[in-house]
Amino acid sequence: MGGTYRVAVVGATGAVGQQMVACLEERNFPVSRLVPLASERSLGKTVTFLGKEISVEVLNEDSFDGVEIALFSAGGGISKEYGPIAARAGAVVVDNSSAWRMDPEVPLVVPEVNPQDIGLYTKTGIIANPNCSTIQMVVALKPLHDAARIKRVVVSTYQAVSGTGQKAVDELAEQVRALLSCQPTKNKVYPHRIAFNCLPHIDVFLPNGYTKEEMKMVNETQKIMGDDSIQVTATTVRVPVFYSHSEAVNIETERKLTVDEARKILAQAPGVKVVDNPAKNEYPMPLDAAGQDLTLVGRIREDFSIPNGLNFWVVADNLRKGAATNAVQIAELLIRDYLRK
Ligand code: A2P
Repeated sequence: MGGTYRVAVVGATGAVGQQMVACLEERNFPVSRLVPLASERSLGKTVTFLGKEISVEVLNEDSFDGVEIALFSAGGGISKEYGPIAARAGAVVVDNSSAWRMDPEVPLVVPEVNPQDIGLYTKTGIIANPNCSTIQMVVALKPLHDAARIKRVVVSTYQAVSGTGQKAVDELAEQVRALLSCQPTKNKVYPHRIAFNCLPHIDVFLPNGYTKEEMKMVNETQKIMGDDSIQVTATTVRVPVFYSHSEAVNIETERKLTVDEARKILAQAPGVKVVDNPAKNEYPMPLDAAGQDLTLVGRIREDFSIPNGLNFWVVADNLRKGAATNAVQIAELLIRDYLRK
């Protein structure tokens, strides 16, 4: 039996933070003490862990005394400020925000893709968890890249509102309720109504005309795959789905991959489940991906417009594999390979 660890979850009351606590429990992570942290708004709230109610504490500079692993999901500002504080206190930080992802001294890790990069954490004490859309895409891309070298990726996303946080989940639900009872809708989280609509706008617009979410998919894919020669272009779209992101992915490879080969490679790839039987109307859907940890891939077909091209459809639970599960998987490798007791 290995030792146990004192684990903090920063943002424990949020959409991702709640899943982090659930994943630690489900995956039997060896926790000796769980420290749920949030803002003063959460004073008096509790989280349930292994059948016990644990009081949420207000995040402050002393929150990390004695903490060995700190999972952060309370937004980029909190990670920027408190990540280094937690690291100085001796915790290894696994950060779900975008604050540290592109820092060259911080590893950006998807365990199925680049587990070897975790070791770089000793420089800053921080490991970054990638963007949800990037995680599920690279889980599918990596085995294909190893087999045939991917030159270019064109991706369009269909992203669930839970990626924006609990407030966005509530906003979609309230708008649907209002519309079905012929009441006017309100929108605070998004600039437009999200119910029965699609917004080609995730995160802020940048001077180059792309959104920050789109550029995250470009830059993070190259960093995680360890290959800056992979060209990526993305269009990211928020859709009125509560949980699980979907992606239409087109790749161009150096070596020709047949559909059969690609299907075989993906079927054996870690973390992937091929769901691809159009004759029976079987393909990945957000409703099936939600609440589980695999990345579902289907609609695998040749792109006839170029010599070496494939199209496929990738769906995963954005709060789990896209965030909480990936963070807990990183923590599992961390204690197995670097913090073993
Ligand atoms: P709180 O619930 O107290 O506001 P979501 O992504 O679902 O919006 O959740 C964001 C998470 O980050 C919540 O747990 C939220 O706590 C937490 N959070 C937001 N701002 C702060 C802050 N200033 N200090 C600590 N936690 C914060």
